[in-house]
Amino acid sequence: MIPPKPLARPDKVSLWRYLRLFRRDLLSAQPARLYRAWMAEFRTPFFRSYMCNDPALVDLVLKQRPEDFPKSDRVREGLRPLLGNSVFVTNGATWERQRRIIDPAFEGGRLRDTFGAMWAAGQAAVARLAPFADGRAQEIELQTSHVAADVIFRTLFSLPIEDQVAGEVFAEFRSHQQAQPILNLAALVPLPRWLPRFHRRTTRRTAARIRQLITRLTADRARALAQGTAPDDLASKIMSTPDPLTGACFDTEEMVDQVAIFFLAGHETSASALAWALYLLATHPEWQDRLAAEAQAELGTEPDFAALGRLRVARAVFREAMRLYPPVPMMVREARCPVTMRARAVPKGAQIVLSPWHLHRHERLWDNPDGFDPARFETENGKACLRSAYIPFSAGQRVCPGAGFAMVEGPLLLAMILRAYRFEPVADKVPVPVAHLTVRARDGIWLKLFAR
Ligand code: HEM
Repeated sequence: MIPPKPLARPDKVSLWRYLRLFRRDLLSAQPARLYRAWMAEFRTPFFRSYMCNDPALVDLVLKQRPEDFPKSDRVREGLRPLLGNSVFVTNGATWERQRRIIDPAFEGGRLRDTFGAMWAAGQAAVARLAPFADGRAQEIELQTSHVAADVIFRTLFSLPIEDQVAGEVFAEFRSHQQAQPILNLAALVPLPRWLPRFHRRTTRRTAARIRQLITRLTADRARALAQGTAPDDLASKIMSTPDPLTGACFDTEEMVDQVAIFFLAGHETSASALAWALYLLATHPEWQDRLAAEAQAELGTEPDFAALGRLRVARAVFREAMRLYPPVPMMVREARCPVTMRARAVPKGAQIVLSPWHLHRHERLWDNPDGFDPARFETENGKACLRSAYIPFSAGQRVCPGAGFAMVEGPLLLAMILRAYRFEPVADKVPVPVAHLTVRARDGIWLKLFAR
């Protein structure tokens, strides 16, 4: 069975139709030829975009010359109400300083420290699912969002999602996301500068409320750190780490920007990957059984970081789910100077679009590109593609700082959930992938679950 793939649009459409399609969903706004092309150019009266699907070009943009391909200001404009000057949108010296402070918190050793909090979130998720395990159809993204948000709050602030402020932030993020589909358009299509860039009133209101709540958490933590009573979690680590070059720590405002992006980047993405992984397992019962058997054999009753290394099936399944449904489907950069790509002259200011979605399903790179096969990563083709055509976390200096964290969280949660429950698809509810902020299903992902 081939997992769901969005219908492509016809090869040629008018600009206005393109923008309309784009606004609805950026995946079905693209033509099918992008699954075969090494590079594609979109020329409109207002802008030129180049999609790079050639691994050598992706390498050039992300790894060899990242300074020549910064994030564009337009991405920042779209996200400013919520994210301010977070590490996700800054460039140059500010970005470098922010990463110097953030990166140590996510290094390997720290992951071991956060493992207990992730385990606790997994246990809470298993308990939360119990009342639903009677074969009724359930919307599963709701559940995966819940657990992913729980993981972030527990690891960052030592708070479970049941905490009042944590719960409120989670609820506000939900309304925020529903209120701002315009983000795609603002962020990915370089509309002319004279067009007013508006944020809807709801977007501004929910963003302000989220920031207010996070400011409270951050200010409380600053006080606890000063008094020596702060728990040892990611927030404490980040807030007490001085920049090794200047000796300065984040001030409250800048920490709020970072917490907002940790929450946004860390919870939507993991929730999406987990939900698709569960759907793929439900529709591939042989893999589901293998994963459950592995979990039953390897996970004990107490958190055991070493067991993680033995969850090979869970890791392969999570990886394959992110190949087919990369939570961040496209990324945009701007060419800071003219550049030649595959003998094409790309002008200064052009938009460079990198598309994990298309690269991960590229017909000239991957064997069986649209099929679900976690065993592929054992094959020569899978190993080669893993190195050159697999970028769910991006690559190079701007690689996701949470990649290691997510690769612990995803397989662990899959294993804990599959140890307790069996999933089946719902016959008349095949999810349709659409890309808003992350790749989600248009009407949710519906599954039936049963206690094992
Ligand atoms: C499955 C889970 C995740 C996926 C697929 C993912 C993917 C990505 C991708 C593709 C980028 C680069 C975006 C771009 O360049 O435009 C990114 C950046 C980022 N991610 Fe993640 N992420 C995940 C989880 C996390 C977690 C758990 C955290 C933190 C708790 C996190 C924090 C960030 C931050 C701060 C950035 C910005 C880095 C920078 O620009 O220097 N992510 N992520």
